[in-house]
This record gives sequence, C-alpha cells and structure tokens, in this order.
Amino acid sequence: MELDTYDQALLNGEHGESRQKMMEILLALGKIFDAERFIPVKSVQVSGASFKTIGDAGLEWLSSIDAKAVVPAFLNPIGMPREGWEELGIPGSFAEKQKQVNEAYIRLGIRPTCTCTPYYFSIVERGDHLAWSESSAVSYANSVLGARTNREGGPSALAAALTGKTPEYGLHIVKNRLPKIEFRLDDPEATKNWTNAEYGALGVVAGAVAGNKIPLFMDIRPNRDMLKSLGAAMAASGAVALYHVNGITPESRFPFFKKHFAEDDLEVVTIEVAEVLNVFAELEVTAVAIGCPHLSKEEVTRVAQLLSGKKTVMPFYVFIAEEMRASCSAELGIIEKSGAKVVPDTCMVVSPLMDHTGSVMTNSGKAFSYLPGMCGVTPRMGTLEECVRVGCGE
Ligand code: F3S
Repeated sequence: MELDTYDQALLNGEHGESRQKMMEILLALGKIFDAERFIPVKSVQVSGASFKTIGDAGLEWLSSIDAKAVVPAFLNPIGMPREGWEELGIPGSFAEKQKQVNEAYIRLGIRPTCTCTPYYFSIVERGDHLAWSESSAVSYANSVLGARTNREGGPSALAAALTGKTPEYGLHIVKNRLPKIEFRLDDPEATKNWTNAEYGALGVVAGAVAGNKIPLFMDIRPNRDMLKSLGAAMAASGAVALYHVNGITPESRFPFFKKHFAEDDLEVVTIEVAEVLNVFAELEVTAVAIGCPHLSKEEVTRVAQLLSGKKTVMPFYVFIAEEMRASCSAELGIIEKSGAKVVPDTCMVVSPLMDHTGSVMTNSGKAFSYLPGMCGVTPRMGTLEECVRVGCGE
C-alpha cells in the first residue's frame, strides 16, 4: 500500500505503541481488500460497546490500549442505560462490567454518545468518508446521507478513531456503490399508506433476497424514518450496507448513477406485497419494544401522541439516545406517564433487558430479525399504532 509520512510514522511507532498496533490492524485489512492507500475519516462509530457482546476478553483488550481518538468518535449502544439501570432490573454483576467497558472507552477519548443513530447528533455530509460500525447506522449514512463507510468491526473502528485513517476499499470507492439487484413491488399503489413498520417488513423480505448485493428500489416513496426502518431491516435479514431508492436517495439522482441504472443489466426481483404483509402474524405478546433503531424526534412525538392519556398493561419499552432527551422532554414525560419505560443508551438486543421474556411485539424489522437469536424471544411485528393498542390492552 502507498503510505504517506503520517501513515509511515504511525507504523514506525512514532505516535506510540498502541497507535502502531492499530495501524498494523488497518494495514492488514487494507492488504486483504487490496486497498491502494489510507484515507482520512471524518468520524468514527465504535461497536463492541455492550459487555453482553464483548465479554471479559474484549474488556481486557480495551484496557491494554493507551492512546486517544484523533477524530470525533462515539459509541454504539451499550448494554444498559448509564443512569437508572437498577430500576430496569439489570443485574449488578453485569452493570459493574458494563461500567468498566464505558470507562475504558472514555479513557480512549470515545464520546459516550451511545446510539445507533449518531447521524442525529453529528454532521454528516454527502461524500464524507466515515468508519462506522453499527449496521443500521452504516446503511443510513451510505444510503440516506450519501456518505461513504464500510461496516467496520469493533477493532477496525477503534483503530480508525485512534489514527484518523481507514484503508480505501469497498464502499469508499464510487464504482463499488452501484446497484446489483433491482426490486419492484407487484402493487406499488399499496405502499402509499405504509408506515415505518411495513417498510421494516419490506426490509426483512428484501434483505433475505439481496444478501450482500446493493439493491435499487423502484416505485416506492419512503420518508427518512421509513428509509431508516427499511435499511436497518435489510442489514439484519441480509448484509446490505448500502441501497438506493430511485429518485429518493441522494446517489440515485447523480448522473453517474443514473447512467448505470439505465445501462446495467440488473437482476430484477418482484416482491409481492402479500409477502411483506405476511410478516405481521398475530401472536399473544408479553412485552412491547420500540426504538430499533433509536427513535427520531418525529418518532418520539408520534409515540407520545399515541400514548397520551393511556396506561400500558405490560412492559412497554421505548429506546432512544440519551442525547434526544433535551429536544423531547415534554413528549418523553407523556410517554413515561403512560407507564412505558424510556430506555436510553442501550438497545433491546444488546442489553439483557429482553432476554427470555416470552414474546415481544415491535414495529422494527431489524428487531424482528434479531430478537429470537440474540434474546431468545418470539417476535411479533406490528405498526406503531398496533404496538400501542396491544401494549395498552385495547
Ligand atoms: Fe440499534 Fe440495537 Fe436496533 S443497535 S438498530 S436498537 S438492534
């Protein structure tokens, strides 16, 4: 690989032994993927933030590193809220380990903004190179914001944070961002009344077909929250890190992409609306969980409108980024008055909160895909309105 003087100095250990090791990780990665050089990244999102996923081995590795981040870097959701975890019944032994993980990252200069929606709290512009890790955040950054990031693992993201560099390969290169599979719907009219949940269910179906191919969707008109839901689900049921929606997502409107959309012989797959709606099967549930990915301000407002004046009759969890509180305190107050629990910093999958709790209703295609394997629960998919109805015993 071509190295500039800073890269070479990092590898020579001139910026410390920890950064030297980090650069060696990035160099090995670059060689595997035939990268020609390193590029600077604007921000980093580090995964491996929950003790549930990294365990003692991960904690020990973090504790052995001695360097600070040189670019803005933030965390994926951790295994519990930083405050109020006792009231949620998180075991003290887990909390103690999680606190050690948090402190290890803070020592490395990683901001404890623990969310899968860092794009609500950092400026990301089209064409920015990032090193993000959480699959839904990667999908949103690439697809909705037009930024460029591969899906980093915990060590490679941390290495990017401590050096400011990443190898240039994969989705950092424009020609690798072209679609490879085109999705059409058999009844596009039916999507006009769809909510985030139906787009999540579409993601469950489409992701399983796409695998790791880049999809191009025709004939749908999702808004930003619907795109978030669609992309998160495709990243879970498949390995989709970038998708395009014709005429909606930024790169689908570029002349370079349009030319290829027109010329390339894409595999075309028609998805039946009935198949998408099949994801919404009836099932008795014991809890409701929404906020996967973490809710936007608009979504918090909608949840508050629906729960206003009602009482929940079963555990009802609302997952957000702690940083969202400042702009939605009144709405969150309405949600909490209903008996629902607002849970910041963590997620329904990486915390032990939902583990083996029976059957859980969600409006998220991503949670629907992950809850069985990660938490041992049976998932039921519903719209937000249905989640509120069931959660309030109506
Ligand atoms: Fe976020 Fe966890 Fe869902 S990281 S996207 S809330 S599975």
